[in-house]
Amino acid sequence: MEPTYLDYAATTPLRREVREAMSRVQAERFGNPSSLHRWGREARATLEDARARLASLLGASPAEIVFTRGGTEADNLAVMGRARAARGAAVVCSAIEHRAVLATARAAELEGAPLHILPVSRDGVVEIDALSPLLGLRPAVVSVMWVNNEIGTIQPIPELAALCSAAGVVFHSDAIQAFGKLPIRVDEGVPLSLLSISAHKIGGPKGVGALFVRKGTDLAPLIHGGGHERGMRAGTEDVAGAVGLAVAAELWIRDREVESPRLAALMRRLEEGLREQIPDLSVNGAEAPRAPYILSVSLPGVNSEMLLPALDMEGLAVSSGSACSSGTVTPSHVLTAMGVPAEISGPSIRFSLGRETTAAEIDRVVATLPTLVERMRALAAL
Ligand SMILES: Cc1ncc(COP(=O)(O)O)c(C=O)c1O
Repeated sequence: MEPTYLDYAATTPLRREVREAMSRVQAERFGNPSSLHRWGREARATLEDARARLASLLGASPAEIVFTRGGTEADNLAVMGRARAARGAAVVCSAIEHRAVLATARAAELEGAPLHILPVSRDGVVEIDALSPLLGLRPAVVSVMWVNNEIGTIQPIPELAALCSAAGVVFHSDAIQAFGKLPIRVDEGVPLSLLSISAHKIGGPKGVGALFVRKGTDLAPLIHGGGHERGMRAGTEDVAGAVGLAVAAELWIRDREVESPRLAALMRRLEEGLREQIPDLSVNGAEAPRAPYILSVSLPGVNSEMLLPALDMEGLAVSSGSACSSGTVTPSHVLTAMGVPAEISGPSIRFSLGRETTAAEIDRVVATLPTLVERMRALAAL
């Protein structure tokens, strides 16, 4: 099979327009935005322009955008920043968060913030009813992701944010797999306080992200120094990176009306094609609302350790939902939280589609994977 990249949820190629905009900034606006001379003033103006453009895409005010060095840092700032600001108060997050949130919540627990984990349904959607009793604890933050990165389920963010807001509790959403691709605004009935985004999932540069911090949200900075980013994130700003994020987001949002249905059609083609050829395959989160660019399937009877190398040899770049260590397979924390028994459902693989994905690529996968699975099953039966 022709090499096929279907791992856009891991990262995406830098878009040409983004690269060109960033190169211009690097060449012509190299000044330090904190310097008071002409070079500094020009860099500051470029940085603030990028901030204003990003803010307007979100419906935020520019002062509510903190640029960070990536999505992980934005998640850390949201969760740990809140835990430290509300000393001793609990942290609540879902069982299927990315490790950028889960590991931060565990680190906050070591600093004295009791951790409460929200369960999810069999289809990978957070149980809303589990939140209400926890709100009485007045947690420092409730953190639930917008789109799950492993199985693509869309979480009930407006409902969760409204419950938190009514209880006066800060709500954070990691929107790293959603921003740009799904309509997300902070001024249209979603009363969340914190929102994380990352540039490299939408054709922007790696190591660049942002945290929306609603005005009035008390947050302790994690990185101390010269008081940059209104004291929320010290360190000389990455002006080119900020421009790259703003341009990448503008391009995605501009094209979304065309791109979203195109991706949804490709996803359907992939899902239906695979279901037809591999009847015992199961789609993780099948009954839940799912983003039209992430498909996770489990393949019973297939050796999980052989699966990814075999796919790679066929030229297919996807992700696995299971991690192998010393001969044993540890199922993903997401599938475990959903109660998907790995020994029955088999290893899972994640296909994630992007702007560059074509129908021909999807057809190649549908033509190749079933034969590969058959071969692997025959080998396992020997
Ligand atoms: C849901 C989610 N949160 C956080 C991250 C981390 O973002 P970054 O790679 O920008 O640090 C990722 C990236 O894999 C993600 O998918």
